[in-house]
Amino acid sequence: MLEGKIALVSGTGPNIGAEIARTLAGAGATVVCLDLNEGYAKAAADSITAKGGKALAVACDITSPADVARAVKSAVDAFGAIDILINDAAITDRKPFLEATLEDWNKVLGVILTGTFLLSQAVARQMVAQGKGGAMVNLISTSGHRGEAIRIAYGVAKAGLLNFTRSLAVQLAPHGIRVNSVTPTQTGTPVGMPDAAPRSDANPPKNILVKRWGRPADQANAVLFMVSPSADFITGVDLPCDGGLLAQFPTG
Ligand SMILES: NC(=O)c1ccc[n+]([C@@H]2O[C@H](COP(=O)([O-])OP(=O)(O)OC[C@H]3O[C@@H](n4cnc5c(N)ncnc54)[C@H](O)[C@@H]3O)[C@@H](O)[C@H]2O)c1
Repeated sequence: MLEGKIALVSGTGPNIGAEIARTLAGAGATVVCLDLNEGYAKAAADSITAKGGKALAVACDITSPADVARAVKSAVDAFGAIDILINDAAITDRKPFLEATLEDWNKVLGVILTGTFLLSQAVARQMVAQGKGGAMVNLISTSGHRGEAIRIAYGVAKAGLLNFTRSLAVQLAPHGIRVNSVTPTQTGTPVGMPDAAPRSDANPPKNILVKRWGRPADQANAVLFMVSPSADFITGVDLPCDGGLLAQFPTG
């Protein structure tokens, strides 16, 4: 499905990002695994090459323009092009609004909004120069669609990415680049806690219509669809991959 395509995935930690990287590789793509944590980038790339796929690990802080430029150059030097970008890297805050600090706010917006802006722009410029279109997917969160009690910056930043997605879809359409998003909910381990025990279906969620927690493969398959030729007529939209969480009117 993705034979001959080069995909760059940011945030290839062991929960969702690495699974996306492996799924795209399984569909035939060559994958650049990018993470702030060099070990995560390498582990994701190694899991692809161990199965005979082609991958490159790149350590990169997406909030650093110099790092981003270096990462995109490494990808292009290695494989000659970038056709697919998955913006998966994120961090979260853990305090409600009245206790939030400016430092946490700036840090979370810095990674989710500024980092995604920097990486997307660098990759988009590369795609435009290549002249053969492309596809991008941004990972949102149900926290970006609803207010929540436990934190503030994460949901605000994810909500920002929803309009970032639509804006890029509009501005990059003339270059044949499709831009969509996928909205996960409660999948595997919580954001920023990849070493935590994964959520267990022995305690199924109350608010998810499909009575189980999300699995990294659920998100990876949704992302694969969005970048595949099957989604060639789809741009500027969000695909909730949330077991129906957002569909339901919350009752007491
Ligand atoms: N896990 C969930 O339940 C869940 C729910 C909804 C949405 N999501 C979204 O799905 C995506 C993946 O979630 P996850 O649970 O795998 O997250 P995670 O925290 O396990 O992985 C995120 C990765 O991003 C990397 N990263 C953080 N800052 C970076 C930076 N500045 N530069 C480069 N890489 C950086 C981290 O090192 C990490 O490997 C995120 O966008 C998250 O917001 C996750």
